[in-house]
Amino acid sequence: MEFLERAAAHFRELLLEQQQRIHRIQQEQKALDFAELPCIQIALAPGDGIGPILIACAQAVLKTLLRAEMERGKLTLLDIHGLDLESRLAQNSPVPDSVLEQLQHSHVLLKGPTTTPQGGKINLESANITLRRHFDLYANVRPVCIPQKGIDWCFFRENTEGAYILGSRGLRFPEFAIDFALTSRPGVERIARAAMQYARNAGKTRVSIVTKANIIKAGDGRFLEICREIAVREFPELKVDDWYIDIMAANLLNEELQAGFEVFVLPNLYGDILSDEAAQIQGGLGTAGSANIGKRYAIFEPVHGSAPRLIAEGRTDFIDPRSILRSCSMLLRHIGYAEEAIRLDAAICEAAVLHPITGFADAAKTADFMDELLLRLSA
Ligand code: IPM
Ligand code: MG
Repeated sequence: MEFLERAAAHFRELLLEQQQRIHRIQQEQKALDFAELPCIQIALAPGDGIGPILIACAQAVLKTLLRAEMERGKLTLLDIHGLDLESRLAQNSPVPDSVLEQLQHSHVLLKGPTTTPQGGKINLESANITLRRHFDLYANVRPVCIPQKGIDWCFFRENTEGAYILGSRGLRFPEFAIDFALTSRPGVERIARAAMQYARNAGKTRVSIVTKANIIKAGDGRFLEICREIAVREFPELKVDDWYIDIMAANLLNEELQAGFEVFVLPNLYGDILSDEAAQIQGGLGTAGSANIGKRYAIFEPVHGSAPRLIAEGRTDFIDPRSILRSCSMLLRHIGYAEEAIRLDAAICEAAVLHPITGFADAAKTADFMDELLLRLSA
């Protein structure tokens, strides 16, 4: 029976901790107003694997697009050191304190992918999850756009709760293991509002809620109910429908239905999975950018990981930088530079036509793609 007591004590601790976290979310926090800042500090962290190559591409783009603003002292780029796997292992910390201290001086972070060691001997939490939790970045925004198919999707993935928040706090007993997932009212309300507000601002009319509420009845059931409540109360003009994750995974591939979807709101794990599928439909994970948005901080990063296989196969000259560049464009919009973001988006598409880049050695080289892009941006 000792295990029952240990488990009950562990569960109690989790509940108390989460109660406090939920209480913190409920304290309204004013969103950071970039227009009020005398100087916006953009942090750049290369991460692991192909991350340093991606960040070098992004840095060249930011320096070209924002040269005048930097010279006026309105913007600064800040290099972050110590978010690579070696440093994290040496400090035995998913995000060392020294990195958090450097980030404190910045307003947004453009981040390369970071490697997470698989469970087993080294139990280091993912840097992404730690950063998302630390800065309370509740909205993971992942757009996918395929104009020739009429697809313009935007995924709003809840980014701080669900299966992730207690993902490394499950219990392992000799005969079984058990995990915990959490869905809070204020946590769902804020992601539902973010998705629906985006729909309203972007002139979209349809929002699709994706869960597995028929099976995961408590958490997903609650997620669905709260999204519906927010829609009825605050966004009555929107057409809101709901789907189970399995059929939605199929619908994204259904050519008769796919173009009809616009905005999606979904719990953390389903958002993780469906946004990879959507990125693949767009042309691969290397094409997709993402934003992690909180009230006071935001992180922009590719949807994909650090791609060690790509390095092992000697494909580093062919890396597709569009994932980080599209993240860059989301960052620009977020800090109030929409015109520059529009120029960047257009130049990415044009450069990709002239230098079709896929990440494979039979397609265009990163350097040629980047030369073309920078030429267009400096014109
Ligand atoms: C993502 C990634 C991360 C996640 C990993 C790296 C922890 O897959 O940003 O989608 O699962 O959220
Ligand atoms: Mg993912």
